[in-house]
Amino acid sequence: MADKVRVGVLLSGRGSNLEALALHQLRGDAAYEIVLVASNVPEARGLVLARRFAIPIWSRSHKGMERAEFDRLVDAELRGRDVEVVALAGYMRILSSEFIEKWSGRILNIHPALLPLYKGLDTHRRALLAGDEFGGCSVHVVTEELDGGPVIARKQVRILPRDTPETLAARVLKEEHVLYPAALDLFCRELRAKD
Ligand code: GRF
Repeated sequence: MADKVRVGVLLSGRGSNLEALALHQLRGDAAYEIVLVASNVPEARGLVLARRFAIPIWSRSHKGMERAEFDRLVDAELRGRDVEVVALAGYMRILSSEFIEKWSGRILNIHPALLPLYKGLDTHRRALLAGDEFGGCSVHVVTEELDGGPVIARKQVRILPRDTPETLAARVLKEEHVLYPAALDLFCRELRAKD
């Protein structure tokens, strides 16, 4: 596909979703191209993975900075690379209102629960405690409300009798790695179709 959508990924840790997004891109017919991986955690493993895929990286610790001030730096890096869509992949920072407004409708996130259930952290433990039949993951558009923006894709994962938060998290994560690239790809394809 010509004219791929330029994506910037923000992460803070392990980076397994970044890896899945980058592997999808290698298939060649992807609608997006990751042109920057940025992090608020300079030692994040996700940055090492990005380098392996030869994706440009940027990092800086947010410590000692105001939220909006840090987000302005991130915004400048994204714009410097002509990013069109921002994909959060384990980005453990709440974004400033200013940033969300600037990128309105163009930030996606993957969340390890069947939204609107279990916004925030500790999702798998909460699903188990509630006796749910299914856990899962969701991709949503980021708005001001934490994990509250429109859901664009979701995948259920059956909860097994002996599941712990860890075993459930591991099975859900495998599904995240399928769901997120597919959802981002479709989102970018539709964005181009609107152009
Ligand atoms: C994933 O579980 C994702 O759903 C959540 O943060 C975790 C990131 O994992 N938003 P990784 O860094 O992509 O491995």
